[in-house]
Amino acid sequence: MKLLKTRTDLLRLLPKNLIMAEIGVFKGEFSQQILDICHPSLLYLVDLFSGRTSSGDKDGNNIQEADMDVEYEMISRRYEKNPHVNLIKSSSHFFLEASPSESIEIVYIDADHSYESVSRELALCRDRVTDGGYICGHDYVNQWGVKRAVDEFCESEGLEIEYLTEDIYPSYCIINRKKPCHTQSRSMFTASAIMSPA
Ligand SMILES: C[S@@+](CC[C@H](N)C(=O)[O-])C[C@H]1O[C@@H](n2cnc3c(N)ncnc32)[C@H](O)[C@@H]1O
Repeated sequence: MKLLKTRTDLLRLLPKNLIMAEIGVFKGEFSQQILDICHPSLLYLVDLFSGRTSSGDKDGNNIQEADMDVEYEMISRRYEKNPHVNLIKSSSHFFLEASPSESIEIVYIDADHSYESVSRELALCRDRVTDGGYICGHDYVNQWGVKRAVDEFCESEGLEIEYLTEDIYPSYCIINRKKPCHTQSRSMFTASAIMSPA
């Protein structure tokens, strides 16, 4: 695992001009950093954009409250002429379920921080993110369910956190290496060989 100072450093290190998704947008401040640093060919900005919610910065400071209906209007206007931004008012799970397999190259998960929600997002991202793509997210801490969900996901999928930031609320980054097909066929062959009568 490689440590990076901040999540901005993580963005600098990610490959450029790819299809990205930020799941949980809030006021769009990190979205703008993604656009400025990663120059995605397409950036999905996915949020419920509903009701009032609050969020802090990458270190949990400067807590701001926002009316998300107003934010949706403002972010829509900000990017209405930007062909690289696709603003999506949806739950993270609905968006990911509706996305085709391998249709996203880099995802940054920062929505509902409960264990159940993050576990479900990670499981969906395993399929929706390309082989060798990046599954990243915010708030890898014990305070909510994020750390437990990420650790269990890595353990069950045989993956590991490749980059972790040293922000007070760290960001993690996992490379979504998929199992080679021959591993599955070989183990099926072995299983059938074992089960066949001599
Ligand atoms: C921590 S804020 C996102 C901060 C943003 N990524 C940043 O770094 O500036 C969490 C956002 O997730 C959204 N959210 C919460 N639950 C969600 C869900 N199930 N699906 C989509 N968005 C959700 C909230 O509306 C809120 O705007």
